[in-house]
Amino acid sequence: MTIRAVVKGIGHYLPERVVPNSWFEDRLDTSNDWIVSRSGIERRHFAAEGQTTSDLATRAANNALEMAGLSANDIDAIIVATSTADLTFPSAATMVQGALGNTRGFAFDIQAVCAGFVFALANANALILSGQAQRVLVIGAETFSRIMDWTDRGTCVLFGDGAGAVILEAQDGAGTTADRGILATDLNSDGSYRDILYVDGGVSTQSTGVLRMEGKEVFRHAVEKLADTAHKALAKTGLGSDDVNWVVPHQANIRIIQSTAKKLGVGMDRVIVTVQDHGNTSAASIPLALSVGVSEGKIKPGDLIVAEAIGGGLAWGSVVLRW
Ligand code: UT7
Repeated sequence: MTIRAVVKGIGHYLPERVVPNSWFEDRLDTSNDWIVSRSGIERRHFAAEGQTTSDLATRAANNALEMAGLSANDIDAIIVATSTADLTFPSAATMVQGALGNTRGFAFDIQAVCAGFVFALANANALILSGQAQRVLVIGAETFSRIMDWTDRGTCVLFGDGAGAVILEAQDGAGTTADRGILATDLNSDGSYRDILYVDGGVSTQSTGVLRMEGKEVFRHAVEKLADTAHKALAKTGLGSDDVNWVVPHQANIRIIQSTAKKLGVGMDRVIVTVQDHGNTSAASIPLALSVGVSEGKIKPGDLIVAEAIGGGLAWGSVVLRW
């Protein structure tokens, strides 16, 4: 018998306020045509005033618990992937724990920017395989609207807020690629690229800061590194592109999503795309896309999924799992 971390439930939450591209046309030298043609984004959600990352995360978590038929105290560990936690400390994860009423287990945040959810899944998998937890609630949640430079048209039109949550549960597998659950992970980072995507403030500089990005450079790395990490994770399983039912990419830019799919040899009819509706929600984008894919009836039990993401650091990685 092989222990597998199997998806038991999924849910998401998007703030009520939907902001179309026209909102930016009124404020900046930009156009709906430019935003759609260069990024694929048509709208995004922004959190209401006072609404925090842990609020969004808690809503998504409750939806996942409901789908799984579980209550808060059935969870052994809570991991929140975020770069926009409510406070410097405590972690967003302990805030979610408190809001859910989970009085057992442990909770902590993971910060790998847009790759955060992939890093969190890999860590949750490790906790389950090592027997430290039976059920792990893994959340990606962000309020990137709080770290935008509203005068920088090259970045502020691209990001949005939201949260997605997945519950992983230890189950016995046969040790083959037919097993449900996480089959392989691949994580990478290279700190020499810190200056192409970062926030120019933080605790040590006593400011919050705003996001800075050299878009073209990040684009170039994304296309190359996302296909590479997905190939590496698939190679660990012995499975190939033809076996993949759904690629669930980080939703940053439709052109990156298309190029990566092409490099992987997967047609766009096997890619979950939500970038048009959510924009780039950083660590929330993959669980949001998974949740939408499930609720639209696309992702079904037994499907082979490759999730891949890249973000500030640079940090990038992928997960192969059977739903
Ligand atoms: O989630 C983490 C990972 N992040 C990403 O993966 C993002 C990666 N990068 C991208 O998605 C793209 O590079 C962008 C969408 C950010 C930009 O697309 P691009 O095709 O690389 O455009 P660019 O930055 O080279 O800009 C082209 C032109 C520039 O004008 P000039 O210098 O050619 O006259 C920009 O000033 O487009 C201009 N521009 C805009 N024009 C209208 C930049 N932003 C805008 C805008 N509206 N919002």
